[in-house]
Order: sequence, then C-alpha cells, then structure tokens
Amino acid sequence: MLRHTWIVLAAAAFGLCLAGCQSNESPAPTGKSPDKGGKKQLVVGFAQTGAESSWRTAETESMKKEADKRGAKLLISFGQGQQDNQIKAIRSFISQKVDAIVLAPIVETGWDTVLAEAKKAGIPVLLVDRGVKVADDSLYATLIASDFVAEGEMAAEWLGKKMGGKGNVVELKGTTGAAPAIDREKGFHAVLEKSFPYMKVIAGQTGDFKMAEGKKVMQAIIKAKGKDIQAVYAHNDDMALGAIQALEEANMSPGKDVIVVSIDGVKGAFEAMVKGTLSATVECNPLFGPITFDTLGKALAGEKLPKYIKNEDKLFDQSVAAQVIGSREY
Ligand code: AHR
Repeated sequence: MLRHTWIVLAAAAFGLCLAGCQSNESPAPTGKSPDKGGKKQLVVGFAQTGAESSWRTAETESMKKEADKRGAKLLISFGQGQQDNQIKAIRSFISQKVDAIVLAPIVETGWDTVLAEAKKAGIPVLLVDRGVKVADDSLYATLIASDFVAEGEMAAEWLGKKMGGKGNVVELKGTTGAAPAIDREKGFHAVLEKSFPYMKVIAGQTGDFKMAEGKKVMQAIIKAKGKDIQAVYAHNDDMALGAIQALEEANMSPGKDVIVVSIDGVKGAFEAMVKGTLSATVECNPLFGPITFDTLGKALAGEKLPKYIKNEDKLFDQSVAAQVIGSREY
C-alpha cells in the first residue's frame, strides 16, 4: 500500500512540476526538494560516466535541458571513468531518497550489489546508453540504448566495400569492459570474418574513447606499422579525430592513403568528412533527455516497461556530409 502511494505521488510530481524547478550539477546535501506551491518536484540522480568525449557532453546537455524543461531537479555525478565513483554516487542518491536514478554505466559488470540496494530502497533505475550484465534483470527498469554490435557491423560493411575486400586495418577501441567497446569490436570482426576474409586487423588498442588517447595510441601504431596501415576503425569519433591528427603529423593522408571510419556522428566528425579526412561515421544518437524522462514517467506510474528500448542508428559518409552538416544537432 505504502509503495503504491509512493509511486502515485512520484508520478504526480513528475507531471505537475512544470515551472520554477531547476537542475543541479552536483548532488544536493539533503533529500527531495521541498514542495513548491504544493507541488513536489521530481528529483532524479544521474550517474554519468564522465566527460570523455564530445558525444558524452551532448548526452549530458540533453539530460539537463530536458530536466529543465520539465521542471525536474537533476543531480549529476560524473564518474570520471571510474566505476567506484559511480557506485558511490548511486549510494549517495539512495541516501538522498531521489525519486529515480539514471545510470550510464562505465563498464558492464559489477553492478549487482548497488542496484539491489536501489531496488530495496524502492528507487527505479533506468540504464541509458550502455547495458550491464547482472544476474537478475529486475534490478533495473529498462535499458535505452543503441545496438552497438549492429554499429560495428555497419562500419565493417561500409569499410569492406570501400576497400574492395582487402587491406590492413588498425582498430582503436573504447574503454576496456564498456559495452560499446565489447560490442563494436564483436560486430566489426564478425562481418570481416564472414564477408571480407582478406581484410586484416593488424593492431588494436584502447584509446578510452578520448581524442588525446586516440592520437597517442595511433602515433605508437604508426611507428610500429607505418605504411602497412590502410584503414582505421575507431570505436568513436573523438578517437578517430585524434588518429587523423597523428596520421597528418606522420605525413600520411587520412581519407586518401588511409580510410578512417568511426562511430557517434558528432559535429566534429561531419566537419572532418566535409574536409575529406574522415570517410564515414555511424550515428549513435546521444540525445537521451526526452526519451529518458518520458520513460521515467512511465516507470514511476508503475507501467510495465520492455527490458530494452532501442535507438535507431544510421551510417553517414563523405558523399552526404556537406548536405546534412547544417542539420546536425550535436
Ligand atoms: O556509450 C557510448 C559511447 O561512449 C560513445 O560512442 C562514446 O563517444 C562515449 O564516450
């Protein structure tokens, strides 16, 4: 009975507080915001991975914008790439008695205990952008994310055709243990093995989804492999842009001598495609704010949610970049 009352109150707060509420960058010291004019403000804790890429910044901005629009209070904690920080943030959100928690998990495993704590406290957890591997999937309400395996497959299909089914590829991987790094690698390799057996991944290393790391790793690989490199597959645009810098500094010509394909579809990637240095990118939409808050509303109203809500992705290459760059939202 108590639980039912809680759900109804939280759902009502979600719908009613449309003005005069604010978002916040760090967790407030105490629990829920006081009633404003009799309307209780929805308080959501967001455990973000960090700010490793421009994609990530676009995701954070989208969440903030939507919270503001709906008059919800968003407490954001940046994990700085460390799972421990995210676990601490979730515990802090629980002790502040937030209405709901949104988690963009840095890695896939190691979440069972803290998610069970949130469940015990009656706080729904929504996973956005990345999934987790837990023994009991009732520990989270739903996952809203792209299909990262399909993104890797799309990149490989495009690259295989572009290279006529042969050539040496360097793979710049995302954060070790992160769902997009695991799945983008899986999808890419599966397509090469099946459809393009004469294409070889001659080096693969993590660049942690960061531009500076992507550049550093690429510099080391250029030193080791030099002219043997004919293509780069980066798990995100920021690492691809870093790799492009490294190639240019080594007097290799990205987009001509070396075909570069990546994932995310950020503005910088479109600029590079217009310039001719990046060849293609698979869009992975980071604008999670609207769908996250819509779904939160449903979760708080006690609606049964599907375990997975899929974001649709699409590949863009140089042939369309100039035409669509003006309409890009991130
Ligand atoms: O989980 C999505 C990935 O995380 C994006 O591709 C990357 O840019 C980010 O940091």
